[in-house]
Amino acid sequence: MMRSWLFVPGDSEAKQTKAVDCGADVIILDLEDSVAESAKPAGRKRVAEFLTARTVRKPELWVRINPLSTPHALLDLSAIVAARPDGIVLPKPDSAADVVTLGHYLEALEAQAGLQPGAIRVLPIATETAGAMFALGTYAPAHPRLAGLTWGAEDLPAAIGASTNRTETGAFTDLCRLARTLCVVGAGAAGVAPIETVYAGFKDIDGLRLYAAQGRKEGFVGMMAIHPAQVPVINEVFAPSAEEIAYAQQIVAAFAANPGLGTIGIGGKMIDMPHLKQAQRLLRSAGL
Ligand code: COA
Ligand code: MG
Repeated sequence: MMRSWLFVPGDSEAKQTKAVDCGADVIILDLEDSVAESAKPAGRKRVAEFLTARTVRKPELWVRINPLSTPHALLDLSAIVAARPDGIVLPKPDSAADVVTLGHYLEALEAQAGLQPGAIRVLPIATETAGAMFALGTYAPAHPRLAGLTWGAEDLPAAIGASTNRTETGAFTDLCRLARTLCVVGAGAAGVAPIETVYAGFKDIDGLRLYAAQGRKEGFVGMMAIHPAQVPVINEVFAPSAEEIAYAQQIVAAFAANPGLGTIGIGGKMIDMPHLKQAQRLLRSAGL
C-alpha cells in the first residue's frame, strides 16, 4: 500500500533516521524546497549515501529532485540514480512531456548503473505552475513509469501572484480547489493513483484527520505528510475499514448471485454498476 508519503529534508540525517521507523509507506527524500540553495551538493551526497546504506525498501525510498527547468535537476539525478531510488517525485512539471523527458534521463542513468530499465517510477506534483493547470489531461494514457499524480497548494498561488491559498473561513481558495480537482480527474483519466497534498498544520491532528477523510471520499488513495505525527492518521484514514470491506463484499456477492440483474437493493438503497466498480476497487486496494 502507498497511503502515507512522508517528506524528509534531504540534508537532515537525524530526520531521515527517524522517518524510516514511523510507519510511513513511502519516504520522500527532498532535494527541492526544504534544502537551501547552498546545501544542494551536500543534500545530494547525503541522499545517495542514505539510499546506498538502506537496502531494505520498506518503506519505499523516493527522491524529490529539483524542477527540470533548473540546473539542479540533472545533478540531482546523476548523484542519486545509481543508489537505486524506488521513485522520483517531480516538482513543477509543465505537462506529461516532462515525465517523458525525465524517463529518458532515467533510462540513460539506469543503463549506466546496471539497473533494471524502467524500475524507477515517477510521481509528478502536477499543478504547481499556471500552464500546468491546462495540462492535467496530458498524463493519459499513462507513461509506464507514472505511479500517480499529486498537487500542491503553495507554489501555484505564488506563481500566479495570489497572496493566499485560503479564504477567510479557512477553506482552500477556488484556485487550489481547481488544482485539487484536476489532480483527481487527471489521475482518473490516466488510471493512476491520486495522492492528496500535505496538511501544513502539523500540530493539528484532528484537522488532519477530517481533511484526509474528506480527500479519501473524493477519490484520493494516499496523502503526503511533512511530520511523523501525521503518518499514523493518514495510514488509518486511507486503509479500508472492516465495515467498508464487509459492505463491498456484500455488494460483490449480491451481483455474483444474481448475474441477470443490473440493479439490486441492499439495505434499502439502489446498488448498480458504479457501486459494484467502487466495491471491486476497494477490495483490490485491500489486497482482496
Ligand atoms: N521526518 C522525520 N523526522 C521529523 C520530521 C520529518 N519530516 N519532522 C520532524 N521530525 C522529527 C524532529 O526532528 C524531532 O525529532 P527529535 O524529537 O528527535 O528532535 C521530532 O520529529 C519532533 O519534531 P517537532 O519538534 O515537532 O518539529 P520540528 O519543529 O523539529 O520540525 C518541520 C518541523 C516542519 C521543520 C519538520 O517537520 C520538517 O522538516 N518537515 C519536512 C519538511 C519538508 O520536507 N518539506 C518539503 C515538502 S513540503
Ligand atoms: Mg513546493
